[in-house]
Amino acid sequence: MTFDPLSPEFAQTPFEHLSAMRATGKPYVHTNTLKRLVSVFSYADCEAVLQDHEKWSSDRGESVRKAGLGDAMILLFDDPPEHTRRRNAVKRQFMPAALAGMKAAIESRVANLLSKANGKVIDFVSEIAAPLTISTIGLMLSIEEDEIAKVREWTEKLARIDGVANFLHHPDDWMEQAGSATLNEMADFFSAKIKSHRSQRNDLLSVLLASELSRDEAVSMAKFILHAGNETTTNLLSQLLLLLIEHPDQYARLKIAPELASGAIDEALRLRGSFRETERVAKLDCELSGVKVRKGDTVVTWLASGNRDHSVFVEPDRFDIARQPNRHLSFARGIHTCLGNILAKSEAAAFVGALIQHHATLELVGDNAVRWSDNPLMSGVTKLDVRITLK
Ligand code: HEM
Repeated sequence: MTFDPLSPEFAQTPFEHLSAMRATGKPYVHTNTLKRLVSVFSYADCEAVLQDHEKWSSDRGESVRKAGLGDAMILLFDDPPEHTRRRNAVKRQFMPAALAGMKAAIESRVANLLSKANGKVIDFVSEIAAPLTISTIGLMLSIEEDEIAKVREWTEKLARIDGVANFLHHPDDWMEQAGSATLNEMADFFSAKIKSHRSQRNDLLSVLLASELSRDEAVSMAKFILHAGNETTTNLLSQLLLLLIEHPDQYARLKIAPELASGAIDEALRLRGSFRETERVAKLDCELSGVKVRKGDTVVTWLASGNRDHSVFVEPDRFDIARQPNRHLSFARGIHTCLGNILAKSEAAAFVGALIQHHATLELVGDNAVRWSDNPLMSGVTKLDVRITLK
């Protein structure tokens, strides 16, 4: 059996392909790439790799640095002790106590966006999900309303380059695609912000400035956080809405039992989490479920596959907002567990809360209401034509 995540077939039916690979019971060695890639599909293999940073490095290596992505992926591509130092510098800002101060602002943005859209046909992605997400990160990073469109363009480009780069056959292809122009523009943008920033505010930019991180590190961190939080949360909001529309029984259940909102969000993350995969590099020769892995090999952990593993989840393809337990892998595991997971979930909670409060009616509009992203490594929609009617 061959497995090519960049093939049109995979793009058409990714979950079926992943399910077939998981059923083989073993990792898959990609033979057609410049570097040796080993894909793992079971929940146990994904979790074991992600949890063991002693054995598996997050440093994606020279090829990534050459493409300019190393700097853009500060933190995510770091190993301890650098990773610990940098994560410690910002982690407090992502904890519930710091985020509590943003709750009212997020809820008021959701209310505004929904009341503007009430009863009209809208593209949910560009008119609600993306503006809400960017303006929320904007609160942390001092991004103004009129800068949102530009910011969205940058993060869309980067999201595409990010994972796909690993599977391309020629480093040149992806160096070209790496869009260093985008990264430079982002660096200029944040350098200017940092220069003029008044640090009396308790936002992330102020925390970055007051931390022991260098100016360059602070700029890279701002770039990365913007990139990490934008497409991903936009996708979560869109997928959650789409799943509720596709499963009216589950939406009806949610309206009767609003305490299931958090379960609905986790279930959307499990079934359609943004990152279908992430990677690690072997620090030594070893074995993974019977397959030999050599030092330097890149192991691709298919989160989207682990999330539908029968041995962990009953009826894994079913959307069940009351699923318990639901230890999905969509925020990964271990020291790199998504730093923004509480923020992303609180945006989704504010959105679902407003739908329930207003007994909103949800409908897809038109024959081509949904346009799926062509990025094979991210689960997302680029257009979602809906009508949301509030009562
Ligand atoms: C639904 C939305 C989100 C999803 C599905 C998601 C997913 C992930 C995943 C899978 C990782 C780990 C990747 C790896 O270990 O290789 C990660 C890391 C990270 N995420 Fe998120 N993310 C989301 C939202 C956010 C938001 C809103 C922010 C910030 C505003 C954010 C900031 C980060 C950061 C800083 C890291 C790096 C952590 C580290 O390396 O220590 N994410 N995210």
